[in-house]
Amino acid sequence: MAEPRRRVWVSQPLFDDIVGRLAVHFDVGTPSRVMEYTPVQIADALRDVDGVLATLNERIGAEEIAGAAKLRAIANVGVGYNNLDIDSLTQAGILATNTPDVLTETTADFGFALLMATARRITESERWLREGRWTQWSFDSMLGADLHGSTLGILGMGRIGQGIAHRASGFNMRVLYHNRSRLPTDTEHACRAEYVDLDRLLVQSDHLLLVLPYSPQSHHIIDAAALAKMKPTATLVNIARGGLIDELALAQALAAGRLAAAGLDVFEGEPAVCPELLALRNVVLTPHIASGSLATRRAMVSLAVDNLIAALGEGPAAGNPPNLINGDALRAAVLIGNAGKTAIKR
Ligand code: 8YV
Repeated sequence: MAEPRRRVWVSQPLFDDIVGRLAVHFDVGTPSRVMEYTPVQIADALRDVDGVLATLNERIGAEEIAGAAKLRAIANVGVGYNNLDIDSLTQAGILATNTPDVLTETTADFGFALLMATARRITESERWLREGRWTQWSFDSMLGADLHGSTLGILGMGRIGQGIAHRASGFNMRVLYHNRSRLPTDTEHACRAEYVDLDRLLVQSDHLLLVLPYSPQSHHIIDAAALAKMKPTATLVNIARGGLIDELALAQALAAGRLAAAGLDVFEGEPAVCPELLALRNVVLTPHIASGSLATRRAMVSLAVDNLIAALGEGPAAGNPPNLINGDALRAAVLIGNAGKTAIKR
């Protein structure tokens, strides 16, 4: 008798034509509208599937996978994967993948756009104009801060951070960066970026961009003490994860004039936004859209689909998911006898 087809769950409606490629190999379940799941609903959805295509909205950890006896692979649509408890997945022999590279340039473009909108008060000016408050041109209204000739600090110098550094040289900016590990000298030269410690980055930056991964170690890396070290004229931009910033401390610094402005694409409790930030005029707020060009979002879904097919041992890359995060899961899968259905070729 033929083996029953394996099943995968696609947690959100993505691009049907791309997700449809999964149907060549698997039975695919997907919702018809955007969903917000409780942990129990996620556990239910995982109970009977072999693989998952997930977005950053689905938190998947030990409790969610406890009843998921067949689950072998989770392909995250996104470069960040702090929604996944990688240790628990690894122990359970479940492969996890992400979508790096395809979003680097689009996200770096957006980081720069958000920086410009924030430093030059573009959205604040527009709101003011639409409110009918522009009754007379005046020489000193809506004065912002220059980008050209200023010092840009980049916290987190991975692929996206480097993309931002490249853009900054076109604006004749001095670029400082801080990263867990210093970049090789030739990469530093190519980015025209100087490595500094975190304190110096905070103290010297006219504009500070956050592009580092979120983890327990980077939780609230920008807290009241860090903000106090920054210039009162500085701009802070976050396109990484909301949890990097103590949002209440940021709102207090902005309200008190201890920081000029902030541009935020990500929020600790998103989609909820801290009311204290919403109340401020000197904050540019966008709904987590840094990778949101049509071409890039399609490329991300396509890569996640490739990853999932390969991680479940099918397709041309069977056994070699291009963006495996937790290689150790393969070893665990062998030990617990799951390998037959994972990336290890059947
Ligand atoms: C994605 C992101 O839109 O890639 C990431 O880490 O934050 C965004 O680019 C998001 O992850 C979609 O799931």
